[in-house]
Amino acid sequence: MSNGALSPGDGAARQTPPRHVAIIMDGNGRWASARGLPRGEGHRRGVEALRRVVRAAHELGISYLTIFSFSSENWSRPASEIGDLFGLLRRFIRNDLATLHRDGVRVRVIGEREGLEPDIRDLLREAEDLTRGNSALTLVVAFNYGSRQEIARAAQRLAIEVAEGRRSSDTVTAETLSQYLDAPDIPDPDLIIRTSGEQRLSNFLMWQAAYSELVFVPIHWPDFDRAALEGAISEYARRERRFGGLAAKTGS
Ligand code: FPP
Repeated sequence: MSNGALSPGDGAARQTPPRHVAIIMDGNGRWASARGLPRGEGHRRGVEALRRVVRAAHELGISYLTIFSFSSENWSRPASEIGDLFGLLRRFIRNDLATLHRDGVRVRVIGEREGLEPDIRDLLREAEDLTRGNSALTLVVAFNYGSRQEIARAAQRLAIEVAEGRRSSDTVTAETLSQYLDAPDIPDPDLIIRTSGEQRLSNFLMWQAAYSELVFVPIHWPDFDRAALEGAISEYARRERRFGGLAAKTGS
């Protein structure tokens, strides 16, 4: 689609699409190095890929798209690269927020806001506030996000409630802990895609990924497009999800 509100397309959407797709957008640096370009150019082209994929996700009937934009561990990168990534987030929100809103996209943010620069915190809040009433697609931006940190924050909140006598320790279950994660109302990802050929979760949605299907795509994130997303969804559609149970019986 070139303009106007997004509406689900056809093609791969006719198969039951995964309701929630999460993506580890990996390989920006290698994409740039292979072309003799600075790593920042790989990230810039990564944002272009992100725009394509947000649009494709809704056209394919996906309800939730989570993207790993900046991990808790990315602070170990050189200051110049961290500056590039924060600059891209600022530009993405300033330039794209109106379009996302017009297209009915709701923006949610997961990750630790403490310690982020005030203008970044304000932009993240503005994106969430402006788009709160939208329902075409929920774009979950994982920013300054790490799964262990998210689980530890949840455990800490429960521990405080127990220590203050507001909760009994036997109510601390997987179900209650999951209610203290950053976005408890969002369903677990059905499909997690990682680009660039690496095959690991790298501290991304480890709690929520318990029964996710993982698809590893051997192309770098700046080259990812609608066709690559459809390919990953087709791979997902061939998987049999059992959630710890038995295979569904076929035939009579
Ligand atoms: C991994 O590539 C990618 C990242 C660390 C950041 C992903 C960020 C973007 C796509 C752009 C910013 C997003 C927003 C929403 C503004 P890498 O640098 O680890 O690549 P490499 O493994 O090849 O070095």
